[in-house]
Amino acid sequence: MRLKILLLIVIVSGTFVLAQNQSRNVITLSDNWKFTKGDVQGAEKADFVTKGWQTVSVPHDWAIYGPFDKEVDKQTVRIVQNQEKEATEKTGRTGSLPHIGVGWYRTTFDLPELEKGKKVLLQFDGAMSNARVFVNGNEVGCRPYGYSYFYFDISQHLVPGKNTLAVRLENPGKASRWYPGAGIYRKVQLIVKDEVCFQHWGTFVTTPYVDGGVAKVNIKSKVNGKDLSIKTIIKDAAGKIIAEKVSSERYGDEVEQNIAVKNPELWSPDTPVLYSVEMQLYQNNELKDVQVIPFGIRTISYGPDKGFELNGKTTKFKGVCLHHDLGPLGAAVNIAALKRQLTILKDMGCNAIRSAHNMPSHEQLELCDEMGFLFLAESFDEWAKPKVKNGYNLYFNEWAEKDVINLVRATRNHPCIVMWSSGNEVPDQHGSIGVKRAKWLQDIFHREDPTRPVTVGMDQVNAVMKSGFGAIMDIPGLNYRVHLYEEAYERFPQGFLLGSETASTVSSRGVYKFPVEIAKGKQYADGQCSSYDFEYCSWSNLPDDDFVLQDDKDWVIGEFVWTGFDYLGEPTPYDTYWPSRSSYFGICDLAGLPKDRYYLYRSRWNTKEETLHILPHWNWEGREGETTPVFVYTSYSKAELFINGKSQGIQSKSDESKQHRYRLMWMDVKYEPGTVKVVAYDKDGNPAAEKEIKTAGKPHHLELVADREMIKADGNDLSFVTVSVVDEDGNICPTASHQLSFKVSGKGTYRAACNGDATSLEMFHMPTMKAFSGKLVVLVQSQKEAGDIKLKVSAKGLQSEEIVIKSL
Ligand code: GAL
Repeated sequence: MRLKILLLIVIVSGTFVLAQNQSRNVITLSDNWKFTKGDVQGAEKADFVTKGWQTVSVPHDWAIYGPFDKEVDKQTVRIVQNQEKEATEKTGRTGSLPHIGVGWYRTTFDLPELEKGKKVLLQFDGAMSNARVFVNGNEVGCRPYGYSYFYFDISQHLVPGKNTLAVRLENPGKASRWYPGAGIYRKVQLIVKDEVCFQHWGTFVTTPYVDGGVAKVNIKSKVNGKDLSIKTIIKDAAGKIIAEKVSSERYGDEVEQNIAVKNPELWSPDTPVLYSVEMQLYQNNELKDVQVIPFGIRTISYGPDKGFELNGKTTKFKGVCLHHDLGPLGAAVNIAALKRQLTILKDMGCNAIRSAHNMPSHEQLELCDEMGFLFLAESFDEWAKPKVKNGYNLYFNEWAEKDVINLVRATRNHPCIVMWSSGNEVPDQHGSIGVKRAKWLQDIFHREDPTRPVTVGMDQVNAVMKSGFGAIMDIPGLNYRVHLYEEAYERFPQGFLLGSETASTVSSRGVYKFPVEIAKGKQYADGQCSSYDFEYCSWSNLPDDDFVLQDDKDWVIGEFVWTGFDYLGEPTPYDTYWPSRSSYFGICDLAGLPKDRYYLYRSRWNTKEETLHILPHWNWEGREGETTPVFVYTSYSKAELFINGKSQGIQSKSDESKQHRYRLMWMDVKYEPGTVKVVAYDKDGNPAAEKEIKTAGKPHHLELVADREMIKADGNDLSFVTVSVVDEDGNICPTASHQLSFKVSGKGTYRAACNGDATSLEMFHMPTMKAFSGKLVVLVQSQKEAGDIKLKVSAKGLQSEEIVIKSL
């Protein structure tokens, strides 16, 4: 076979990328972008000079550098979904970061004269928002929705040599219910290929039959060009070729292949085995295009008796909802930060993620494939009826179908995705037009992907039971409303329900309030919520209320807790309290540090390892002799508590209340400083595990622990260093709030810090921050050069500490 050698030289922002023997070249435009905030006349023009503009790399979030300001997006509104009766002034709703307004980005890339018949696509994984894209001064297209993936064929606008790319973004106020981020916050790529090619996002790999030691892999590929044949090679996880096929039969513009894989290793959260298809496209024996697509072999099905079956096994969703921001990094995508989140969630026993309430990043999906998470990929928080004045309602009629098409086509080969969501708590749940919209959208999803079901997170349960809206959905998803689960199950025809959003319990890491009592919407003068995990919202509930349904009802197929991590914006119950600017809902705080609730979920979800966790901390100077309840979140069903060696009795999980079923609680403990010890007993009543916490002495020094001590020298990788204020013996000082300072030297840079305090107005990128409840996290970033990176943390009155991270 004669392969034509295509020589393609691409210079991207000063970097030479020389690709030989390649029929397609994918170039990520990440470095040397110029950015400015505010509108600039003529900034789209090819010869525009970016004098005074900042140099940035993409992904980039222009608003995360602050400052926090109460006036940003201040809104006097009644939040209908939150059952508010009257309008009040909301300050931190969208995070109080300066994301509103216009931002311009420009970069250049050099292309040699394109060979005749070459094609160049320009792809954005997301740009916040209202993107207008210009190549050499020509507007090549626009995309209003900031979460949508989109691309343009820019071939006709290119010139040999230097080309300019300019992007104008504009975020209106009152357009979001959380911090949306600002800027080109996901990657941008050029795809250079032949006109005879695989169509972009045009290949769909599925595994319709997996049985008796063989899997049928079905590959449908849309192609451009005549007289084509496709050679498809399937490789296993080790890269070994296990099957090959050459096909040329066409059905319109599509080639369909069916290939058997013998003794397949099935993809699941416990065994995330990935295969890949390498596809070569030939025209008269000349290689024209190559694509490689990772995929997993797995089956999914849903039904009344079985619930959700993965590979024929009923599997409940132990899931969390995640907003797209990465705390101190804002919305800018970073693989290390995403991976850290998933690592933390994996240890909790979580097996599923819902991308609330929009399209996930490709990086997150790739990680979920590799690390083993089921994925519920959502599209919209609004349809045609508004929740916020300038929200997606402005674009729904014109763009919804296009946005769904791109979501599905760009991501449908990810084995992790097991369900789509066409919306979250859309006000269109009311009224007959909404029912039609629900069907219209679901049909689009089915047309684009007949293999996965569709849900909507429904909170207007009474309305959707009556109107037929709920009956339409493949998967009826209920947001909260635990009291309506039974009735909805009876009235919906599907025979099962999903807790598409659950709990919305609120807490601040390391903060405990007394007396300890179950309360809705409770507020305190310090703007914090109690970590006894007894506080929730008027529309929501405690984790235990969901656990009961998950455990007792076979027809409840799982839950997605609101949320896995705190996020910027929506500081309920402090929407009207300044300076609250980020959420309290997270199982982990904004810095990614687990709150106590983490261990409550872990005690149920992580069935492989034991959990034994004591709360609260034991530094209560001034509370001597006062009632200070002790809770233990544990995978054991029975334990004994000792305060300074004195038994406080044995507690067993019981049916006394929902909370007693899942937590061990000693409500009458009187505080005295010293040691709290818990001894857990196994089924036979023998001591099986124990844990101890102590009253910490005076803050003495700092302890630094990195999540990864070796990172990649790629200029993007991050090490997350948890800094704790400890006493002389190394006990964490749980109330310490020292002002800490950070200095990074060697082959890395200081990137950001975060302490998880929702009321902090300190900026993440400044090299100083207060500890919150004794801790914070420092993010250290690699450079492109390998070597040691040293982080030094110091504070007045404390011994400073250093840690060395290796960048390789
Ligand atoms: C839900 C909504 C989420 C979030 C949450 C807070 O109703 O879907 O986006 O607002 O409430 O409890």
